[in-house]
Amino acid sequence: MGDGRTVGEGFDLAAADYDELLRHNRDGAARLVAALPDGTYDDVLDVGCGTGFVTERMVERFGTRRVTGVDPSGGMLDVFRDKLAGLPVEATLVQGGVHDMDVPEGAFDAVVSGMAFHWFPDKPAAVASMARRLQPGGVLAILASGRGTDEEFRRVLEGVRPPVPPAWISVFDDIHRDSEELAGYMEDAGLEVVDAWDERRVRHQPPDAYLARIAAVASHLSADLEPAEAAAHGERVAAAVAAAAGPRGFRYSFVKLFGVGRRPA
Ligand SMILES: C[S@@+](CC[C@H](N)C(=O)[O-])C[C@H]1O[C@@H](n2cnc3c(N)ncnc32)[C@H](O)[C@@H]1O
Repeated sequence: MGDGRTVGEGFDLAAADYDELLRHNRDGAARLVAALPDGTYDDVLDVGCGTGFVTERMVERFGTRRVTGVDPSGGMLDVFRDKLAGLPVEATLVQGGVHDMDVPEGAFDAVVSGMAFHWFPDKPAAVASMARRLQPGGVLAILASGRGTDEEFRRVLEGVRPPVPPAWISVFDDIHRDSEELAGYMEDAGLEVVDAWDERRVRHQPPDAYLARIAAVASHLSADLEPAEAAAHGERVAAAVAAAAGPRGFRYSFVKLFGVGRRPA
């Protein structure tokens, strides 16, 4: 699998509806950017930039002048490109993944990454790759889905019969990390950890809306299944989520993982 290729293809399918389905990520981007230390961030690299939520906030808070956005999903980059007409920033969009991105080293005041790190295949290498792009004194800021996210959904999936594909369950441990792990990756990459923390929220959503978000971010996990098989699994999962829902909808945890580190000057 190429760096981010299959995940990126999944996001191609979601691109047109992403801003509506994943509107919580806009709030997350605002909080990530609010967590950066005061400073001058004229040159910014946004990794897993998607439709540009984090870049929009960097421009708003810091007046960022130049941004390089990297993402394997051409569909997400197309949505971002359309937005750029209304943003006072010079942008370069690069289709690629964090591990193989064609982006200069030692060149950026800040490297930011919103809600993409959990999809990066090799987390320590991804942090090292982003850290190398910083100028001395530059800041790396990461927001991701953290350990514990959607744990209620995982329990529902574990109870579905016949069983769902194993990857639908193993994905939780594969992708999620906590703040201590992220801080360790930053230290190993030669950064000073400014702050790293986890925020857990409990939310309720109508089952259909909940499953629409899951489908938007994780459709690549069905890419190798026959469409009829994927649909049959999907119907059983939808029935199980509906059965688990209460009067306020399906109850689920969402953990946001934040990390901010600085390259020594
Ligand atoms: C949930 S979206 C987040 C987009 C945006 N940063 C935001 O805050 O809304 C995750 C993005 O990560 C991208 N992605 C997946 N794998 C990647 C990789 N290996 N390297 C870089 N980006 C990747 C996806 O294509 C997708 O656009």
